[in-house]
Amino acid sequence: MAVNSIIRLEKVVKKYSLGKIDLTVLKDVDLEIKPEIILSILGPSGSGKSTLLNIISCLDIPTKGKVYLKDQDVSLLTEDELAVIRGKTIGFVFQQFNLLSHLTAVENVSLPAIFQKIPEVECLSRAEKILKDLGLENRVNHRPTELSGGEQQRVAIARALINDPEIVVADEPTGNVDSQTGTKILDIIDELKKKSKTVIIVTHDLNVAKHGDEIVNIKDGQIISHKKK
Ligand SMILES: Nc1ncnc2c1ncn2[C@@H]1O[C@H](COP(=O)(O)OP(=O)(O)O)[C@@H](O)[C@H]1O
Ligand SMILES: [Mg+2]
Repeated sequence: MAVNSIIRLEKVVKKYSLGKIDLTVLKDVDLEIKPEIILSILGPSGSGKSTLLNIISCLDIPTKGKVYLKDQDVSLLTEDELAVIRGKTIGFVFQQFNLLSHLTAVENVSLPAIFQKIPEVECLSRAEKILKDLGLENRVNHRPTELSGGEQQRVAIARALINDPEIVVADEPTGNVDSQTGTKILDIIDELKKKSKTVIIVTHDLNVAKHGDEIVNIKDGQIISHKKK
């Protein structure tokens, strides 16, 4: 396994301005994420987990500090360049699934590949295969409202995988499903690691965090521990 980090944060600060008040949500966060591991980010609600994950996954930029994605300082990229690299390198899974309600499962899963300008026929066939791998071969043409929460989350995971990203980030992936479905989602996450992906999970649940090879504990916008197994 390579030792270099796949993502590195240096003294990352994130502030939000609320009128006259500045709210500092991340305070000098340093973090190195090694490739091909599951990293859990654990902390209570409001501690800054989603903010941190959005910066790790280059969806958001820090107020101060540096983010390196595969040794590339992302602040040196244009927004368009960053969007292309992000689309190819990172797959996203959200707590609220974020599926488009007017599209079928296979169409939802295809979207990130369509955005990469891959021919539609190929996008759809890739999407169908991934849905099948995740046990959803009989749900390909269902719309989100016709699916259970767990099925929707598996569709969302399939969508995250369509461009075969090296990194998968998941913000509270089990937050809106029952515990049995949560176990299934965590099994899928374990499988991703076997496929040499780097997985970053955000959670407030210690039992979910324990799936990680490493656990980063965040409190009030600061990393208070980073435990490696
Ligand atoms: N866009 C925003 N504008 C202002 N404050 C925000 C914004 N996003 C998050 N916050 C605040 O930042 C803090 C951390 O939020 P968040 O990262 O979502 O925490 P977590 O995911 O751990 O629950 C919270 O106090 C939240 O209210
Ligand atoms: Mg959150």
